[in-house]
Amino acid sequence: LYDLGILPQKAMDELMTSPVRELIVNDVSIRSTLNTQAQALAKVELQHIDVEWLQVLSEGWGTPLGGFMRERQYLQALHFGQLLDLKHKCAFPGDNDDGAQDPYPMLDSVNQSIPIVLPITLEQKQTITAADGTILPEVALVYKGKVLAILKEGEVFDHRKEERVCRQFGCADARHPTIDLIKKSGDFCLGGDLQVLERITYNDGLDSYRRTPNELRQIFDQKGADAVFVFQLRNPIHNGHALLMRDTREKLLKKYKNPMLLLHPLGGWTKDDDVPLPVRIEQHQAVIEEGILDPAWTVLSIFPSPMLYAGPTEVQWHARARIAAGVHTYIVGRDPAGIQNPENGDFLYHPEHGAKVLSMAPGLSHLSILPFRVAAYDKSVGRMAFFDPKRKEEFEFISGTKMRGLARSGQTPPDGFMAPKAWTVLASYYKKLAQQ
Ligand code: ADX
Repeated sequence: LYDLGILPQKAMDELMTSPVRELIVNDVSIRSTLNTQAQALAKVELQHIDVEWLQVLSEGWGTPLGGFMRERQYLQALHFGQLLDLKHKCAFPGDNDDGAQDPYPMLDSVNQSIPIVLPITLEQKQTITAADGTILPEVALVYKGKVLAILKEGEVFDHRKEERVCRQFGCADARHPTIDLIKKSGDFCLGGDLQVLERITYNDGLDSYRRTPNELRQIFDQKGADAVFVFQLRNPIHNGHALLMRDTREKLLKKYKNPMLLLHPLGGWTKDDDVPLPVRIEQHQAVIEEGILDPAWTVLSIFPSPMLYAGPTEVQWHARARIAAGVHTYIVGRDPAGIQNPENGDFLYHPEHGAKVLSMAPGLSHLSILPFRVAAYDKSVGRMAFFDPKRKEEFEFISGTKMRGLARSGQTPPDGFMAPKAWTVLASYYKKLAQQ
């Protein structure tokens, strides 16, 4: 069937319409009973980044995962980049009983290139271990004194951090900010099924942008989208990015009537020198207001995942997670999820490998991948264009460092690089930063 091309199409349809596995307890009375019960349970205090992963899992971006990874799932992610146990404890809707149900009966595996684990310390492990050495059947996950979730039938396994980062990042250098975070995290991982007691919010004025996969599916449905393409980003939007998005829409218009864009900035943890989320959202709004992206076919929403800077390994996660929101097409450009090599400042990952790897990633055949060449400022025409190596002297690459320099000295980038209003948002952020 695969050879005949029948299975992939069926599998694709199935994935796009398959249920999202949300882990949030919506029933108010069940929630209140669980809350009362949770007060008496042993507690594990979460770090902020754990709360972000909890949000990712609870909203169903990791479907069919029912909680933080158990050792089996961790090993599958780390060694195969896929989840094989699709039926394993996969009950709906988020009630964590054993009624195994398979959300993807047509698939043998789904792509899962990164582990989603809850690291805990030895002390925390001891608090949740019973006198006979077994892990307590229920544990409350707490953040700043508030119970966020109950983790059931927990399993503790060694967090082999050196081995994990070597596999996940192809590198173990603690000057890489995420590797540093992982190396400083607990020596054990707590896996298990989750009942999340309420939707995770941050009260930072941006919660209305945080839409779950199911909510996004509904929005696209209401707007009559017949195809959805997504743009993952963690940087401000320049006209090169916009070129990729507009070009994708043009391509899709040949086949669809109303392809819509999910403009999906990453909202979780990012490294210190990235532009903070509130500034990025304001900048993205300005890009839309200036008509660089048409609000008629653009939905701006926040993707709750933290950033990893794991290049081709991470871009698979970025693509796979979006399937939950009903996305058909994923745009990928130059050096996705990239970072500098801390040793020599060069690209840590080959800038073209992200797109190449994504185009052939296992368990992702149902998602259409649109790879793009690098875009840069074409001085000969005064706008962003796809780089042409034959006329390389006519192109200028405007990096984040360069933008910071321009903003600090009150200069503006060349016309056609970024929408003026969007540049003003960014420039005032960089200026403030320089004054600190
Ligand atoms: S990422 O970490 O989310 O990948 P970023 O926000 O910089 O980082 O990029 C968002 C998307 O735009 C990625 O697919 C990336 O490959 C692509 N991209 C960024 N800059 C360029 C560029 N100059 N030319 C082509 N693609 C680019």
